[in-house]
Amino acid sequence: MTLAAPAPLFLDDHDPAASRQRCAACLAQLDERDPSPECPRCGGLLEAVHRRPRGADGAPLPPEALRASFAQHCCARPLGHPSGVWRFGALVMPAAGDAITSHPEGNTPLLARGALARYTGCDGLLIKHEGHNPTGSFKDRGMTAAVTQAVRVGATAVACASTGNTSASLAAYAAQAGLPGLVFVPAGKIALGKLAQTLAYGARTLLVRGDFDACLRLVQDASRQLGIYLANSINPWRVEGQKTIVLELLQQLGWDPPEFIVLPAGNLGNTAAFGKALREAHALGLITRMPRLVSVQAAGAAPFARGFADGFATRYRVQAETVATAIRIGDPASWDRAVRAIRDTDGIVTACTDAEILEAKRAIDAAGVGCEPASAASVAGVRQLVAAGTIRPGDRVVAVLTGHVLKDPGILIEMHQDGAAGANAPVEIDPTVAAVAAVLSAAA
Ligand code: F0G
Repeated sequence: MTLAAPAPLFLDDHDPAASRQRCAACLAQLDERDPSPECPRCGGLLEAVHRRPRGADGAPLPPEALRASFAQHCCARPLGHPSGVWRFGALVMPAAGDAITSHPEGNTPLLARGALARYTGCDGLLIKHEGHNPTGSFKDRGMTAAVTQAVRVGATAVACASTGNTSASLAAYAAQAGLPGLVFVPAGKIALGKLAQTLAYGARTLLVRGDFDACLRLVQDASRQLGIYLANSINPWRVEGQKTIVLELLQQLGWDPPEFIVLPAGNLGNTAAFGKALREAHALGLITRMPRLVSVQAAGAAPFARGFADGFATRYRVQAETVATAIRIGDPASWDRAVRAIRDTDGIVTACTDAEILEAKRAIDAAGVGCEPASAASVAGVRQLVAAGTIRPGDRVVAVLTGHVLKDPGILIEMHQDGAAGANAPVEIDPTVAAVAAVLSAAA
């Protein structure tokens, strides 16, 4: 499937609808409450299209007024919205009203850390830490929108395939909405923290004998045949929620965009969401310059980086293998819309080896920030592109950390066991001051 020529970013001014769904391939339009997981006409991916945000007088809001309305809804204000997703509701799901399933989520910090600036060679590096979301990953931003929509369309259950974070997030939001959750994860290939969360929040958890790509095919078939609402990132509302990572970081920077926004990439939902956010922010005049998107894959799961290298002439599929299990994906579902995101932003796609990813994770952890392995791909990518001269040391770069350090305790135990290179192994002692002194003098 290829994408049609760029269609209008917003609904026609005379259209009475707040939002519609549109097929990215054949441009067929669907009602915003149509629960179809894909275009019923051609099978293409659906995207949400909204009316331009308007003021009380019905006229489209100019950029200053729009920025002011986002600021007014900020959590710090008495009448503000406590969610970093829903304060941008006019660009996420304008008709949602108050009937939302929100934890709340978002409002994640933008961190400057000298140690990471030195590690990457980029003085202007900022870290947007999405691990600060309620279930510890950026997925909560998309899931609040998808589960809100599931309730709006009267879904009786929600389902997803996942490498672990989406399942944890779906489980939490489905529980809050009172909907049964059903998740499909690759058996033996999801990090312990994510599996534990998914079980704790009560989703029915299916350990599929196959990889993530097989899980995604299965959940799509199951959703078509059993009528379960699909909440993977091919769901257009997931994309709408995830756009707010970009909107929020732009707001945090006073709408003065950085030169680069760097993110880890697997199924490419987030790359697609970032591209859509930037296109819309630019069209609305919220920003006047496009940052360049950089999607970073793990070298063992890098079909998109391979596609970028040949000008996206071919859609590659690979058998994925990487220590970064969150992005162990060989056949990314949002390929076409991610291609558009990279093209529209003069973006870059690159790949980092597992060794580079783990080295970056060590630096992030040691700086007191911490993240799960896949997240470290963004910082590894910055270091690689600075070394290649693509990113200049003085450039302002936002690297997104997608998941919390506690997501993958298994890798931490391996990295820090006695004898591993650079390990910080725990030391067992007798309960005496002499034993403490002996440890301190051995370390000195
Ligand atoms: N980082 C983390 C921590 C992730 O969990 C994922 C995706 C990505 C990056 C990549 O984002 O797929 O939008 O390109 N995790 C999905 C999941 C696949 O099921 O949790 P993407």
